[in-house]
Amino acid sequence: MVGPTAELSGRLGAAFGALEPGADPVLRPSERADRQANGALGLAKRLGRDPRDVAREVAAALEVADVCQSVEVSGPGFINFTFSRAFLEAQLAEMAADERLGVALAPVTKTVVVDYSHPNVAKEMHVGHLRTTVIGDALCRMLAFVGHDVRRQNHIGDWGTPFGMLIEHLVDLGEEQGAQELSLGDLTGFYRQARVSFDADEAFRERSRGRVVLLQSGDPETLRLWRVLVAQSVSYFDAVYAKLGVLLTDDDLAGESTYNDALAGVVADLDALGLLVVDDGAKCVFPPGFTNRHGEPLPLIVQKSDGGFGYAATDLAAIRHRVRDLRADQVFYVVGAPQAQHLQMCFAVAAMAGWLPETVDVEHVAFGNVLGTDHRMLKSREGDSVRLIDLLDEAVDRAAAAMATRAEATDGEHPDAGDAVARMLGIGAIKYADLSTDRLRDYVFDWDRMLAFEGNTGPYLQYAHARVCSIFRRGDVGAETGPISLDDPHERALGLSLLSFPEALAETLTTQSPHKLCAYLYDLAATFTTFYEQCRVLVDDESTRRSRLGLSQLTARVLRSGLSLLGIEAPDRM
Ligand code: ARG
Repeated sequence: MVGPTAELSGRLGAAFGALEPGADPVLRPSERADRQANGALGLAKRLGRDPRDVAREVAAALEVADVCQSVEVSGPGFINFTFSRAFLEAQLAEMAADERLGVALAPVTKTVVVDYSHPNVAKEMHVGHLRTTVIGDALCRMLAFVGHDVRRQNHIGDWGTPFGMLIEHLVDLGEEQGAQELSLGDLTGFYRQARVSFDADEAFRERSRGRVVLLQSGDPETLRLWRVLVAQSVSYFDAVYAKLGVLLTDDDLAGESTYNDALAGVVADLDALGLLVVDDGAKCVFPPGFTNRHGEPLPLIVQKSDGGFGYAATDLAAIRHRVRDLRADQVFYVVGAPQAQHLQMCFAVAAMAGWLPETVDVEHVAFGNVLGTDHRMLKSREGDSVRLIDLLDEAVDRAAAAMATRAEATDGEHPDAGDAVARMLGIGAIKYADLSTDRLRDYVFDWDRMLAFEGNTGPYLQYAHARVCSIFRRGDVGAETGPISLDDPHERALGLSLLSFPEALAETLTTQSPHKLCAYLYDLAATFTTFYEQCRVLVDDESTRRSRLGLSQLTARVLRSGLSLLGIEAPDRM
């Protein structure tokens, strides 16, 4: 199945192409018709012609009689299209018969590396890790669904000078006690205590510095202690991932330490290429186009004056590995917006060194902050950043309470659905609130809003899905679906919305913007609601009933599959 928009867009492409090779028809949803092509305006400008004229010429050359019932030129040169009923019905029949709901596999299978989540060892996963983890995971699901070979890379912070202090603190606590603190998730306490000793105690500081040297020189006992720290943290991260329901496993771990052995080589190679400049004792590369606010060139420091390698060297090694060894065609860095300059500089230097050919697409999938209801960075009452795991637990508790209130209000109509549903609802609400905002914008973390059963929320969509499922549980009339026929305008609107699923997903993927899929699903749920109010589904007339059941079933499938691509579960009843 091609889908109505893709079909139309293909034919339009040919008609526009006759006037200018490669001209983009710019096909968009329309207020007045089903779709609208705006491409004639730009094309006319480039050709120095009247846009209405160009639009008319394109419309006349188009062969869409089997697809559209009407094609109209309007306004300054828009072309409006209304699909024909028979075409939409045929498309819906294909969609219903398609396991993939009309979503085509990508014409070329790419190897796509997605760098996301990347918490730091012995540090708490806080609300800041929510965005990267949830957005990255949704991207992985969507990329895999369209057939790409997805390589998740969890670039955890598992190396660096703080480990001297952390290891010494572990030694002081005793391994058993220390390990217990870490596996219980008291990472903030552990880190803070280490810091306190470091700041207060000169002897501890000395030992810590010595530890860093031992760690870097590969002392076996020190490495063993370091591994204890990493393993405990990783098992804690895994517990958070399990609660959150994300795809990441230990196989996806590729922490900073993975690249240790490659760092000297990175520097040597940059040197051999003549790219290194020694600045204040540090080895740097100055990629063109990056300046500070005084207009001076900015260095990417690959080796500090004390000989240590930093975050940038590791990232250069990582890029090289991803391109050369993992054979990535595309690399997504799902990292907060503040790291934009660091990443762009790494990409630029990697390109200068020839490690990042132009054929490989690297993209910083940036995102904004999570704010509290006071519109400042979300903080706990004590002023700490909020622990992610606490948020997840609270979400589930609140979801259970919201369900109980709802069951009371609706007079027990909704059976007590239990813990599993509360979990799906609570976690879904958090994920959906995050994914449904344009990722570049900050958003306010607001329990009441995200858990509401109305509006563009996770619970609303989950409830819409459950409600459609409930139609099929009514035993009195048959629940058999049949061919979809679009007699009523509300049926037609729902049919068209269903058929827009593949394009919504495609648009979401090309812009790495999960909020677009969210907006689509919300619109679909709202369109279904109107249909359901206006058209009785379980009518006596068999062919109408079967057609409406067919539309309903397709709605449930699209909602379920769309939510699952976002990493959100949809219970059948709630
Ligand atoms: N661990 C880092 C942090 O918490 C993020 C790592 C992002 N990925 C990367 N390749 N630099 O800030």
